[in-house]
Amino acid sequence: MNLTIIGTGYVGLVSGACFAEMGNTVTCIDIDEKKIDGLRNGIIPIYEPGLETMVKRNVSNKTLYFSTNLKNHLEKCDIAFIAVGTPMGEDGSADLKYVLQVAKEIGQHMHNNLIIVDKSTVPVGTADKVKAAIQKELDHRNEPMDFHVVSNPEFLKEGDAINDFMKPDRVVVGSDNEEATEKMRALYAPFFRSSMDRLITMDVRSAEMTKYVANAMLATKISFMNEIANICELVGADVNKVRIGIGSDSRIGYSFIYPGSGYGGSCFPKDVKALKKTAEENGYTAELISAVENVNDKQKLVIANKIIQRFGEDLTNKTFSIWGLAFKPETDDMREAPSIYIIKELVKRGAKIHAYDPKATEEAQHFYLKDTKNITYFDSKYKTLQNSDAMILLTEWKEFRSPDFEELKKQLKQPIIFDGRNQYNHARMLKNGFEYYQIGKK
Ligand code: UDX
Repeated sequence: MNLTIIGTGYVGLVSGACFAEMGNTVTCIDIDEKKIDGLRNGIIPIYEPGLETMVKRNVSNKTLYFSTNLKNHLEKCDIAFIAVGTPMGEDGSADLKYVLQVAKEIGQHMHNNLIIVDKSTVPVGTADKVKAAIQKELDHRNEPMDFHVVSNPEFLKEGDAINDFMKPDRVVVGSDNEEATEKMRALYAPFFRSSMDRLITMDVRSAEMTKYVANAMLATKISFMNEIANICELVGADVNKVRIGIGSDSRIGYSFIYPGSGYGGSCFPKDVKALKKTAEENGYTAELISAVENVNDKQKLVIANKIIQRFGEDLTNKTFSIWGLAFKPETDDMREAPSIYIIKELVKRGAKIHAYDPKATEEAQHFYLKDTKNITYFDSKYKTLQNSDAMILLTEWKEFRSPDFEELKKQLKQPIIFDGRNQYNHARMLKNGFEYYQIGKK
């Protein structure tokens, strides 16, 4: 099929590369000329394992193209995907200005029989707005045409996005038209070699809702476990043991119940807020979802509070070595990363920060911690430790899992570790001579 994907952000780029990999001819469109120029030359604006190789391979195979000209590419297009950003508006709702601008342009330039797919995470009712925006332009052109708006939300995890796309747990297609559903089924068939059961079709509004509910459910699991971790500390229990104890019940399961420094990233914080807002707009107060958000906001500072308890309110003349800045491993994404909040809190109290992350240093330096003083960035985890009063682990990159603890002792002023991701064995660390602080175990 001939596909046009509008928006070369995270979702657009991964989807474009993967659809091309499956033999479709894909053109990815963006208004940012510099980005498009870079992509044509194999410069990928984000770090995602496997993406660069896949993009380059498909560009050289002539299955993947990049362009700034939407108009030209609508002509031969079977399906157009809207994958532009939906940033959080002032009031917590998803801002649809980019989505509706694209819908307008599609209406201005489309030809007959087009399927338009909402791939961006959009609130319930957006497909209707997209349809109306396109129809308005067609009425203006006075050229009646057949088109269908389909919802096909994305469930990619950063750091594992290629795998998620190529071998999906499920694909959700929301459509009110049988022909459009069949075309989507044909597009996704190669991704399900043995059975099409995991292609789930439903009405448009339910599909739009599914995306928010999946993310809110996962965020709820995390906030629930973080709250339990805080209670465990108070009653002298070990959340790591409790986690295994409850996970063994197949109705609960082991996944996504790791306590830590709170969830971050581009999806959970934004989607939880947007769902709360949607409920509010419809006259419903979403109490549980609000609590999920509040628990997470507090959790981001749990490690900072432990440091303050240990070193006092005034951290002047103290230096802390941070291992990990990204919101999670295998990404350079710093959006809503707990490290931002923790570092700002420590710096506010006079501390100096030594920081290392395998991928996210530039993002931190140039954007998210640009205006925060007293941070020095290092290119190795051991170098950050020099003259530091403690090491603080905030992202569970693989290279932090079993470091040379003797080297840590040698470099740190005193052997103190604050572990915001519970990476090490508590008893072993104490036996090894470390003062070791975790989440959910005193
Ligand atoms: C998430 C969803 O998983 C994905 O389906 C959706 O499309 C986009 O949002 P992503 O933001 O890439 O993906 O990250 P994910 O791996 O889900 O982790 C989100 C956050 O939860 C991270 O900050 C992570 O550290 C935290 N987390 C995850 C925990 O604190 N505990 C856990 O047990 C799991």
